[in-house]
Parts: sequence; C-alpha cells; structure tokens
Amino acid sequence: MTRAVRIHEVGPRDGLQNEARVIPVAQKVALIEMLGRSGLTDIEVGSFVSPRWVPQMANSDQVMARLPQVAGVTYAVLVPNMRGWEGFKAARKDMVNYEIAVFISASEGFSQSNLNCSIAQSVANLAPVVEVALNTGVGLRGYVSCVTDCPFDGSTSHSQVADVVGLLREIAPMRVSLGDTLGNGTPERVMQMLEAVLKVAPADSLAGHFHDTNGRALPNIEAALDLGVRTFDSAVGGLGGCPYAPGAPGNVATEAVLDLMARLGFETGVDPAIIAQAAKMAKEMR
Ligand code: HMG
Ligand code: MG
Repeated sequence: MTRAVRIHEVGPRDGLQNEARVIPVAQKVALIEMLGRSGLTDIEVGSFVSPRWVPQMANSDQVMARLPQVAGVTYAVLVPNMRGWEGFKAARKDMVNYEIAVFISASEGFSQSNLNCSIAQSVANLAPVVEVALNTGVGLRGYVSCVTDCPFDGSTSHSQVADVVGLLREIAPMRVSLGDTLGNGTPERVMQMLEAVLKVAPADSLAGHFHDTNGRALPNIEAALDLGVRTFDSAVGGLGGCPYAPGAPGNVATEAVLDLMARLGFETGVDPAIIAQAAKMAKEMR
C-alpha cells in the first residue's frame, strides 16, 4: 500500500467560517497564498452559500478574484445549489484550477439546521450542480456531515452513513469526505463506521474530516489510515470551532497532521516550516 497521504486544507473555509468576525479579503488571500507555497495541492478557499446564514464566507467571490494560479494547486469552494453555482461561475477565473464541493448530512437534524431541508431534498438540490460541474469539467468533492454523531439526533447509525455516501456516489463517482462534525468519534467507532462505508465506496474515494473538539482527531486519523484512507482534511492553526461546543478546538490542525504523518512514515509533500508560518498568521487573524 502506498505511503503517500494527501492533505486537503480547509482552514480558509471551514476554519474562517466559524470566526466571530469576518476576515478581510486581503488577509484571507495572504493566508491562502502562503498555504499555496507549502506544497499543499488542495486548498478550500470559500463557499457560495447564503450570506445571511454564513456572513464570514460572503466575500468568497472577492477572494477568488485575487487568488493567483499556482501550479499543482486546486482551490475548492462549497456550492450547495444552483444559486451557488451561478455565484461560483461568475467569480471563477478561467485559468485557475477549481473544484466544487457539495455537502449533505448523514442525519436529518443537521440537514435541517445546516441546509434548511431534508437529506432527500439536499440531494435533489445538489444533483443539477453535479451535472453542470461534470459537463464543464470542474472537479467535484462530496461531504457527508455527522458521520458519528449529530447535535440534534444523537448518534448516527453506520448504515445511514453508508447509505448517504452511496447516494452521493450514485450521482457521480466523486471523492467523499466523511465529517466527524462534532468531534465525538473514537477510533473504534470511526473504524466501525468506515467498515460500513467501505462496502459502498473504495478507500481511495474517501477522505477523513475530523474536528478535534474532544482531542481525538489524531487517533481517529490513525484508525482511518489503518483501513486504507489516504486523504485527510485539516485546518492550518486548528482554525475553526464548533458552534455547538463553545470554546472547543476546530478542525484538526494541519501542522499536527503533518507531524503525525512524519512519525508514521507517510509522505505528504508539504513543507512543515511554511505551514508553521501560516499557522502563526492564522492565529493572529482571530
Ligand atoms: P434557504 O434559505 O433554505 O434557501 O437556504 P432558499 O432557496 O429558500 O433561499 C433563501 C434565500 O437565500 C434567498 O435570498 C436566496 O436567493 C438565497 P432572499 O431572496 O431571501 O434574499 N440563497 C443563496 N444566496 C447565496 N448563495 C446561495 C444561495 N442559495 C439561496 N447558494 C442554503 C439554503 C443552503 C443556501 C442555506 O441553508 C445556507 O446557506 N446554509 C449554510 C450552509 C453552510 O455553508 N454551512 C456550513 C458549511 S458545511 C460544514 O461546515 C460541514 C463540513 O465542514 C463537514 C463537517 O464538518 O461535517 C463540510
Ligand atoms: Mg467541517
């Protein structure tokens, strides 16, 4: 099995969307530019969602307008519906490499809270987005939230996670990132959940997206590595947090994941010194 691991940096999106203040465009661009020099190949830079729901991402079009093209770097943005696609299309510079991410929940409670609709309706909303992305050659990623627990519905059944991953991959064979949104997962539960998901999707089509709310993101990543997952989402400086757990840490920190991978002998191609500088910059923004 390959010893290479891919890091999908989500700090400028998942991290900054949770900050109380809206970070100015110039600061976001400076952070993303620094991340783009680190060897990261995938950087999530914003969202085309309702500015009333997530004001922190309302300047994503301006961020995109100022981002340089960097060889080997794909920028990702969240697009929940066709309205978001129109926003993305208007903001996209033709020469820059973008991927869009569609996102759903494995639990009905979080689906209602995050997307204002049922899981079935959210799948219907994203289907035309996927179609137009495929037709225009824009890369695709899927997210499934609440793969261990939901803040409203309690624990999520492993078969429900597998069903929802299957729904996404029936629409298109996209890579699916499995979100431990609350950070309640334990290595044992993560493994059981993954065993169910691996029945509908191969390990190389999955990513682990662990929030570090309870300090278990790194052991959970190790559990996913053991089952063959080789892509992990992380946020520089551990940016972010959880609106349902005030004061809790955010996404697992990119620098901590790099450290773990180095200890375990996995190659990431990412320069830890630049990530350390970017983490300092990210922390100063908060
Ligand atoms: P809605 O209110 O149900 O939608 O929002 P609607 O279709 O009824 O439209 C209502 C208003 O929103 C209208 O404007 C639309 O034009 C506007 P109005 O006429 O009232 O002025 N609207 C939009 N505006 C901009 N961009 C759009 C858009 N769509 C509608 N794309 C919607 C539905 C999904 C937009 C809303 O619920 C929303 O924005 N939710 C926020 C979702 C979000 O960004 N959540 C955080 C990211 S997901 C996440 O963090 C989890 C993840 O990290 C994995 C994990 O950790 O679990 C990925
Ligand atoms: Mg997240």
